[in-house]
Amino acid sequence: MQYKNKVVWIIGASSGIGAALAKQFAQQQALLILTARNSDKLDILAKELKALTSCIVLPADITRRDTLHIIVEDSLRVYGHIDILVHSAGIGQRSLAIDTGISVYNQLMDVNFFGPLTITQYLLPHFQQRGAGHIVAVGSMSGLMGFPGRSGYVAAKHALKGYFETLQVEHTIPHFYITIVSPGRVNTPLPLSALTADGRPYNKMDHAQLNGIPVDVCAQKILSGITRKKKHIIIARKERWLYWLRLLLPATYYRMARKAGIQERDQEVL
Ligand SMILES: NC(=O)c1ccc[n+]([C@@H]2O[C@H](COP(=O)([O-])OP(=O)(O)OC[C@H]3O[C@@H](n4cnc5c(N)ncnc54)[C@H](OP(=O)(O)O)[C@@H]3O)[C@@H](O)[C@H]2O)c1
Repeated sequence: MQYKNKVVWIIGASSGIGAALAKQFAQQQALLILTARNSDKLDILAKELKALTSCIVLPADITRRDTLHIIVEDSLRVYGHIDILVHSAGIGQRSLAIDTGISVYNQLMDVNFFGPLTITQYLLPHFQQRGAGHIVAVGSMSGLMGFPGRSGYVAAKHALKGYFETLQVEHTIPHFYITIVSPGRVNTPLPLSALTADGRPYNKMDHAQLNGIPVDVCAQKILSGITRKKKHIIIARKERWLYWLRLLLPATYYRMARKAGIQERDQEVL
């Protein structure tokens, strides 16, 4: 029960990796704050978890940057402080760069980068005052290399990694940790809400996503990385090879990444 009574704020808790992490922290009797836009989904999850621990729902849209200072103040009022902040909110993309509207890029950057950045900026003075804290930033393997059909998502995840990696090497808070998580494909509904060229949701799953790492396994690996205060964890299957190829045999990476994008388009399922 390492996390018993630790206050954990999970943003992006209504689904997928965030919801799975909430369940694992609840089993450890952490005190939870759950945030996302869909308050119905959050309420259902909170009801389930309340059998195990205290669980407060704090709905928010992290793209509404002008409201985020209020959300952060509200989050601090719930239990008086935050021990661990998990940024798991995110939105995917399924469109080629040439077709993609600028407003789609704005949305991808807002959810995947500016939202987590703004909340972190508002919360940093709290961690500084306490001399402690832990931020978990769920990035992506797409934050480590390019991938077809994801130009805005890849850009946002690179920005997220760049921001948190810089914070890792510049902060002076004594017991403050940042864990950057770079998952490959995880079996979650992420493609359903992924933005297409005109901003409409993709609304489909693809084979690769359905065959991704089970979300509970991913959450368990994240929890283990938090416990070990890891600076960066990659949770992936064969996408990991693409990453190493890019470093060691770049020409092969460029060929294989292009091929992977073409295969993905050929394998869409409803
Ligand atoms: N699944 C994968 O293969 C994979 C791989 C690499 C990285 N990731 C990253 O993992 C994180 C979690 O994704 P997931 O796979 O668990 O997908 P998911 O099931 O679709 O979860 C995404 C979460 O983000 C929340 N969210 C989206 N827009 C939001 C907004 N404007 N304000 C607040 N919350 C918002 C969603 O809740 P509401 O809709 O209720 O707001 C949901 O809780 C994301 O950052 C994603 O980029 C996933």
